Amino acid sequence: MDFLKLARARYSVRKYAARPVEKEKLDCILEAGNLAPTAKNLQPQRVYVLQSEEALKKIAELTPCGFGAPVVLLFTYCADEEWKNPLEEGIRSGVEDVSIAATHVMLAAASLGLGTCWVNFFSNSRVEEAFGIPGNEKSVLLMPVGYPAEDSAPAAMHGKCKPLAETVRYL
Ligand SMILES: Cc1cc2nc3c(=O)[nH]c(=O)nc-3n(C[C@H](O)[C@H](O)[C@H](O)COP(=O)(O)O)c2cc1C
Repeated sequence: MDFLKLARARYSVRKYAARPVEKEKLDCILEAGNLAPTAKNLQPQRVYVLQSEEALKKIAELTPCGFGAPVVLLFTYCADEEWKNPLEEGIRSGVEDVSIAATHVMLAAASLGLGTCWVNFFSNSRVEEAFGIPGNEKSVLLMPVGYPAEDSAPAAMHGKCKPLAETVRYL
């Protein structure tokens, strides 16, 4: 599919079918995330695939935004491995690196007919504790993945983009 068509068609799915995600499709979207660029190619991102009954039950207790999806991805980055900008104190690449990888996953999923939603509505510390995430890793987002329910539809805010004139400046 043409890229702009795909980007327009993707929306945040908040209701999922019971249908499981095929392993080949899951592998494919994880591979797409793995191909994402990262600062200095340090690849600090980590992806936890939550799909066991136990893991999904835990996530449902931690956020309402798993939306009953059969798979939820937890994206973290290893703070020891992120790039630190030597020219600007405190500027580090971990969140950016993870975000690019997650965006690759999101769009790859859409290209395969799978729905996703970017989710920040959770307590990072509680999620890290619940899944035994190592102390040097920081969680960034959760991403439910699955087939959209038959009656799934974009929320009203989908597609309401500011005009380019408001977000782009030519200098
Ligand atoms: C950083 C970020 C955090 C988000 N957190 C949540 C969330 O916690 N729960 C949720 O339902 N949607 C969340 N979203 C989805 C946005 O609400 C959604 O992408 C936006 O409204 C545009 O709608 P669309 O994705 O359908 O085009 C988040 C999106 C981003 C980029």
